[in-house]
Amino acid sequence: MDTIIILDFGSQYTQLIARKIREQNVYCEIHPFNKIPTLTEDVKGVVFSGSPYSCNAADAPVPDMSNIKGKLPLLAVCYGAQYLAKWGGGRVQQSKIREYGRANLNYIDGSNPLMKGVPMGSQVWMSHGDTIEVLPEGYKTICSTENVKYAGYQIEGEQTYAIQFHPEVHHSLDGNTLLHNFVVDICHCRQDWTPASFIETTVKELRERVGGDKVVLGLSGGVDSTVAAVLLNKAIGHQLHCIFVDNGLLRKNEFEGVLESYKDMGLNVKGVDAKERFYSVLAGVTEPEKKRKAIGKTFIDVFDAEAKLITDAKWLGQGTIYPDVIESSSVKGPSQTIKSHHNVGGLPDYMKLKLVEPLRSLFKDEVRRVGRQLGIKDELIGRHPFPGPGLAIRILSDVTPEKVHILQEVDHIFIQGLRDAGLYDKVWQAGAMLLPVQSVGVMGDERTYESVVALRAVESVDGMTADWSHLPYDFMAKVSNEIINRVKGVNRVCYDISSKPPATIEWE
Ligand code: XMP
Repeated sequence: MDTIIILDFGSQYTQLIARKIREQNVYCEIHPFNKIPTLTEDVKGVVFSGSPYSCNAADAPVPDMSNIKGKLPLLAVCYGAQYLAKWGGGRVQQSKIREYGRANLNYIDGSNPLMKGVPMGSQVWMSHGDTIEVLPEGYKTICSTENVKYAGYQIEGEQTYAIQFHPEVHHSLDGNTLLHNFVVDICHCRQDWTPASFIETTVKELRERVGGDKVVLGLSGGVDSTVAAVLLNKAIGHQLHCIFVDNGLLRKNEFEGVLESYKDMGLNVKGVDAKERFYSVLAGVTEPEKKRKAIGKTFIDVFDAEAKLITDAKWLGQGTIYPDVIESSSVKGPSQTIKSHHNVGGLPDYMKLKLVEPLRSLFKDEVRRVGRQLGIKDELIGRHPFPGPGLAIRILSDVTPEKVHILQEVDHIFIQGLRDAGLYDKVWQAGAMLLPVQSVGVMGDERTYESVVALRAVESVDGMTADWSHLPYDFMAKVSNEIINRVKGVNRVCYDISSKPPATIEWE
């Protein structure tokens, strides 16, 4: 498969470059700048990412370009562009004027292959503190903005291109054209990275790797585990044994509904009712991290006991996706582990199964596309993310079956309401929180003293940052009425209008 290698210098946008290249149906991989892989014949070009560093800093990241520059097509972005300019004898210094945000190209070398089809005035997105003041000899300017003369350049006689703006960010309106020019016209990559080709090669590889062995896989109802299971099923059929655990913390009717869909898809799946076990370990636990640990451990125990019933299983299938495996370039040390709590579950040592992870090379949007190509229903593919510990971390106190029931009803009205109003797909994630607060209300002639719930709906790309969804007031009024009228035990509904950061999506 024709491949582009992206060397990561620690930019927040590196994964975005990869996703944009993949959108051109060209395969690419991200590697830390200081761990360059073997550049096999499949590698048709290299991209240098941006970086939080200044190339003048004493500890600035320095790549080994000996097998790259002048040998393979190279596109250096932002820091990459500045680094190459400095390396060639140019001058890079701190910018005197702000070079952050939108700018427009007021000079374009239309004959340059990288700039083909990029119109004069094209809006680009700048985000850098340094700027190139002097370009080395033999470096030719290919585009400029009013404030940035050397917005882009090519090293003459080489297929080495550089741009100081970010083509991968959607504010760079012709960024896709530019990336297309690089990967297709300059690197001559075939555009054969498609869901269909991925499925074909993966199924073949899975058959070879797994042979006649049995694979065990835990389904969660989420997109990743579902697509992984359907792919494995296509490859090895009923050698795949799926386990779907009801932890009692799922959405209303979710366990039954999803289990039915799994069976319809021909999966060999066993549903395990472990509700009581989860409720008993959660009894009296209020601290969020303790809840997560208790749920994680119980899940492993239940899963492990079930897996042991499948004699001679040799493999554990998992829905791991690319963002989980990309090695951080650790320019600034390992990225902070704010989200360590997300790694609930995992593989107990004593299971000693080999791992098979068919989605390891895919981004989330690619998993969805593969899922659609596999014929999985939109209802499953387009689902909002849902946390592993489920409703337990949306009940801001100890978890009881009664509270779960109340929250399931509230959540159901909200989510069904979003679907009915055509808003479900506009929202990235939505749910309800049961607050440990009772408030006074009045119903008929009676004074009530009941629970408060908070609704949360956010827009996001990857869950790392999020903004609250500006849902229509009419919609919220309808949902609120319905919740208070129908769910016994709730007399007040609030809407969470905090963005992340500084708030998080979940309340616990
Ligand atoms: P936060 O609350 O950190 O959530 O803004 C970001 C995304 O992660 C999900 N989330 C979890 N997922 N186990 C999971 O599998 C967890 O413990 C967990 N906590 C949060 C959250 O639903 C959102 O999509």
